[in-house]
Amino acid sequence: TAPSSEVHVQPTEEVSQAKESVPLYRVGIDAAYQPFSMVGPDGKATGFDVDSMKWIAKDQGFEVEFLPIAWDGIIPALLAGKIDLVYAGMTITEERKEKVNFSKPYWTVNQMVVVKEGSPITLEQVKNGSVVIGTQRGCTAAIWIDENLVNQSLMPAQNLKLYDNTPLAVDDLVSGRIDAVMYDSTVMNDIIAGKPVAKIGMVETNEDFGIAVRKEDTELLEKLNSGLEKLMASPDWEALKQKYKME
Ligand code: ARG
Repeated sequence: TAPSSEVHVQPTEEVSQAKESVPLYRVGIDAAYQPFSMVGPDGKATGFDVDSMKWIAKDQGFEVEFLPIAWDGIIPALLAGKIDLVYAGMTITEERKEKVNFSKPYWTVNQMVVVKEGSPITLEQVKNGSVVIGTQRGCTAAIWIDENLVNQSLMPAQNLKLYDNTPLAVDDLVSGRIDAVMYDSTVMNDIIAGKPVAKIGMVETNEDFGIAVRKEDTELLEKLNSGLEKLMASPDWEALKQKYKME
């Protein structure tokens, strides 16, 4: 080594200030799944799940970015690495558990059935397959109808009308193109507010929502679970429910 008189020492500031970089996770959501996730005219994501996600990210020290994805393609998008997690009212089902891992449950819904105001259609008629029902493509209502009506030969497959999102199904209900719509109760309450639509009952499916991640992302799942647990135990959880008038 050179004698100290000849050494030009550079400041080592950069080394001492080097920070660990904060991970950024891309969160798959649905643009029309009020009050859990929705995208406003300004392009910003809001909703109960979106706010919960931001709370957990802050608590667990990571950053998030929200990406709206078509519901029936959301698990393929997760598996293909286009997003890192799904936080969008996804029901924990045995079939989905074969492909992804879920956080602890954070919400429960049943399937609400609605008809046009003044329609004589009953819940019994819907449950025995004698009317035309609409819902979102790939959702658990569609799966319920398939398993319990179409596959039991109670209802012809063409009587199940599938839409990109449920607000579109409700538009078709109001204009008389379909007889009934079935969907997650909490969300249906929001979609039908102020519309000429009547609730006729509930199919009790008792579905729990969870956050979905790829099976190999065990560390991320741990962070999500511990953040979610803290959020649900904090007063902010109640405040969020009130903010989004969750029923
Ligand atoms: N809970 C239902 C399901 O898991 C519907 C969820 C739809 N979610 C959404 N973001 N569009 O299939």
